[in-house]
Amino acid sequence: MKDAVNLNRSGIFLAQMPSAYLCLAWAPGFPGSIESNGTRTKEKKIMAGTKYSIAQFITDAKAILKRNDPLEKQKEAIGERLKELCKRDDLLRFALPFGPSDASTGGYLLWREPPATVLCIGEWNPGYMSPVHEHKDFWVVGCGYKGRDRWDMYERLDDGSKPGYAEVKLVDQIDITPGKAVWMPPPPRAVHSHNSMSNEITLEVIFSANKPPAPSERLVYDPENKACWPSGWSFTPVYAGDYYPGRPSAKTGLFSGIQKAAEKATIWTKKQGKRTFCPVCMAFA
Ligand SMILES: [Fe+2]
Repeated sequence: MKDAVNLNRSGIFLAQMPSAYLCLAWAPGFPGSIESNGTRTKEKKIMAGTKYSIAQFITDAKAILKRNDPLEKQKEAIGERLKELCKRDDLLRFALPFGPSDASTGGYLLWREPPATVLCIGEWNPGYMSPVHEHKDFWVVGCGYKGRDRWDMYERLDDGSKPGYAEVKLVDQIDITPGKAVWMPPPPRAVHSHNSMSNEITLEVIFSANKPPAPSERLVYDPENKACWPSGWSFTPVYAGDYYPGRPSAKTGLFSGIQKAAEKATIWTKKQGKRTFCPVCMAFA
């Protein structure tokens, strides 16, 4: 059994919880499916050999976020489902590479839809230690998939009023091995770095439903010299899009993603009096 890590506002390790599933069927207390209005349905048995799908994970995560629970509780529940999804060994087969960021050597997009739902895989080369950085209150829930990442967690101590100056203090280090879920605390304890501690590629599946800050608002820190500056990284075209990919949705049927994207684009083009949108090649024709 793997454990989940819970961080409170102070970034301190709070509790370890046993994962609540059995191999081929949902255990009592672990909902097999959640409706979009957030209510839990009767537990569903998963047939032997059936994999937890990416689409079902997205449906479940969105339902969790509609519950009347504190965000930290929601992150914890999403982490449990992310652990389930990470049992799949084929996630990369469904992902679109989007290249490196200011804190990773690579990345892969698994799902994206408006307004801000995203599921991706971060990649770190062996030995890579990312800049200490922050993306404001863009919270993430992550789960180890391959290799081993260590999140070094810092607290920002100053009020940010002096441009270029920042005081940050290391408050925690979290080892993330395959199957272990973790989630980002809110600022001022959201400053962090990734440290690839394995001699193989490290992969981590990451979910968020919060709008990321503009690239110019992402800060990189030099803890030793008490300095900070904008990261300079900007989103790649793949990452900046609204929808990816157009594939079956667990909730609304086959190819609803493509249909929704096409409908949205068609409405827009009609308003603009422009050409029509092709849902097959996802381009204007
Ligand atoms: Fe980050």
